[in-house]
Amino acid sequence: MTEATQVPGVLDSHGERAAPLQTVYVYEAPVRLWHWVNALAIVVLATTGYFIASPLPSTPGEASANFLMGYIRFAHFASGYVLAVGLLGRIYWAFVGNAYARQIFTLPLWNPKWVWGVLYELRWYLFLVKRPQKYVGHNPLAHFSMFFFMLLLTFMVVTGFALYSEGAGRDSWQYKLFGWVFAIWPNSQDVHTWHHLGMWGIVVFVIIHVYAAVREDIMSRQSLISSMVSGERLFRDEYES
Ligand code: HEM
Ligand code: HEM
Repeated sequence: MTEATQVPGVLDSHGERAAPLQTVYVYEAPVRLWHWVNALAIVVLATTGYFIASPLPSTPGEASANFLMGYIRFAHFASGYVLAVGLLGRIYWAFVGNAYARQIFTLPLWNPKWVWGVLYELRWYLFLVKRPQKYVGHNPLAHFSMFFFMLLLTFMVVTGFALYSEGAGRDSWQYKLFGWVFAIWPNSQDVHTWHHLGMWGIVVFVIIHVYAAVREDIMSRQSLISSMVSGERLFRDEYES
């Protein structure tokens, strides 16, 4: 812990001045900004992607007066670009940011303490152990799943731009950069299907992620959600009675 903040007027359960709150600056502004912009882009991408795959059966009125699928696809592509640029920015920040900015890009499988931590967290999430471990950055299980989530995001960008290149044409930069995807799946319906399956992988991650963030914020005696807003991790044990 690098820093202790004394909050005036805060008393513990015995009426004594509480011990200093322990806070550490963990998530730098670009990481936090990326997190929330990325979350928003994913909500738009998953919703519009779902409707691209399963369009509404009909829309009322003159066909020429309707552009619903056009707007849905536009929102998908626009947020796809936001996601892709954000991902590039996040990768750049892994190089220039602090140690926690690099965490989810590596998998320290050779570190037995870390592997032990993954298994401990798994048991903690399954209610099999009583005490939470405290971590300044991501806990090892979160770290483990976020590593694979970043791979999944990369997969969605690569397949997304490959699909986009079908509309943009063979001269487009999208085809030049991502056209090789059709060497793996020559039938573009397969690319659609994998891209679609990727969406469900992301939906499953988000459900577990939000559950874990809320649960840990309450149960692990360290701040989580506010840490992704302010950047500061707060350790709360000082107030246990
Ligand atoms: C589409 C929705 C979301 C996605 C894809 C997502 C993804 C991620 C990723 C990739 C990270 C790692 C950040 C990094 O180190 O760069 C992260 C961290 C985090 N996210 Fe989200 N997130 C989403 C929504 C949310 C929501 C709604 C909440 C709040 C309830 C939340 C709370 C957190 C927290 C607290 C962390 C830090 C966890 C820790 O310290 O170990 N996320 N999220
Ligand atoms: C979180 C990321 C993303 C999710 C969840 C997502 C989801 C989806 C889904 C479910 C579909 C329908 C697939 C089907 O035909 O069954 C789709 C189509 C498509 N997506 Fe994405 N997508 C994501 C990222 C991207 C990105 C980064 C791009 C790049 C611009 C992109 C471009 C496309 C294109 C071009 C189509 C085909 C549209 C059409 O056939 O009309 N997607 N997406």
